[in-house]
Amino acid sequence: ANSMHRDELLFSYKGIRYPITICSPETFKALESFEARSDDIVLAGYLKSGTNWLSQIINDLIAVSKKKTQGRESNVNDEELGEFPYLEVGDAEKYERMTKLPCPRFMVTHLRPENLPKSIFKNKVKILLLLRNPKDVATSFYHFSNGIATLPSYETWDDFFTDFMTKKLAWGCYLEYLSEWNKYIDEENIMTITYEELKENRALGVKNIAAFLGIPLTEEELQFVAERSSFQSMKKNSENTHGAFGDVFFRKGVVSDWKNIFSEDQNEKMDKAFEEHVAGTKLGKKLKY
Ligand code: A3P
Repeated sequence: ANSMHRDELLFSYKGIRYPITICSPETFKALESFEARSDDIVLAGYLKSGTNWLSQIINDLIAVSKKKTQGRESNVNDEELGEFPYLEVGDAEKYERMTKLPCPRFMVTHLRPENLPKSIFKNKVKILLLLRNPKDVATSFYHFSNGIATLPSYETWDDFFTDFMTKKLAWGCYLEYLSEWNKYIDEENIMTITYEELKENRALGVKNIAAFLGIPLTEEELQFVAERSSFQSMKKNSENTHGAFGDVFFRKGVVSDWKNIFSEDQNEKMDKAFEEHVAGTKLGKKLKY
C-alpha cells in the first residue's frame, strides 16, 4: 500500500491513468513503434483478471514446445530472456532490447486494443484475451491496491468502489476496457478465455490454449502444466516467482468473492453499468457474469 495521494502516484496518458513508478510517457511513446512479430504471443487481460495465472500456463506451454523442437530445457521465465513480460511496464529502451529475444516472444498487457502498437494487429499476432467477472476484478483490485506500493491505497472499500466505477483507477475503467475489446472480438487470431471457465476445468483450459497456440501436447504434458498451475502450487511457489509479494498476487483464487464485500446498492450499480455498456455485446455474452 502507498500513502502517497492517488493523484501523485498516477499520471495520465491518452486519458487513462497509470502508476508513475512502473510506467512512463516515454515508454508509451516508444511502444507505438514496437514491431510485433507474427509469432509473438500476447496475453491481454485487465489487472486482477488472472494474468499471472495464464502467464505461467503459457510460459510452461512454450517451454514444453521448445523442449520438443530444440531438444533442450528452457523456460521463458529464466534469465535468458530477462525482460519483464508486461509490455507497457519498464523503460523506453526495452523494445529495442526485445528485438534480440528469440522466438516466440511472450508478452502480457493490461492495455486496451487502441493503445496497443498497430503492428500487433497488422501482423496478426495471436492474442489470448482473458476475461473475469467485473465484480471479482473489483474485489481483487481493492485488496491488491492496499497490498502493493505501486498503487494508491484506499481506506475503505466504498471509496475504492466509487473510483472503480468512475474511471479513476490505474489502467482505466474495466467496463470500458471490455467494450473497447469487444470492437476487436472478430479479429483473426483472438481467443477469449474466462477466469471462471479455467477455474472450473483447468486441464480443458490448458488444452484449448495449447491448441490455439498450435502446441501439441501429450496427456502427460497436459497434466504437468495443469498441475503446476493450480492455485495451491502457484501460491506455494510464489516466494520464488513473486518474492515478498507472493501472498498479494495469490490471494484467494476463487470465484464470487465479491459477495463478501459488495453492498446491495453497489451490486445494483454494477449490474446497471454492466447492462448498459457490456451485457448485450458479443464479448459480454462470453463473460461469466
Ligand atoms: P483474487 O485476488 O481474487 O484472489 P492478476 O494475476 O491478473 O494480478 O490476477 C490476480 C488474481 O488471480 C487474484 O485473485 C489471484 O488470487 C488469482 N490467481 C492467481 N493464480 C491463480 C490460480 N492458479 N488459480 C486461480 N486464481 C489465481
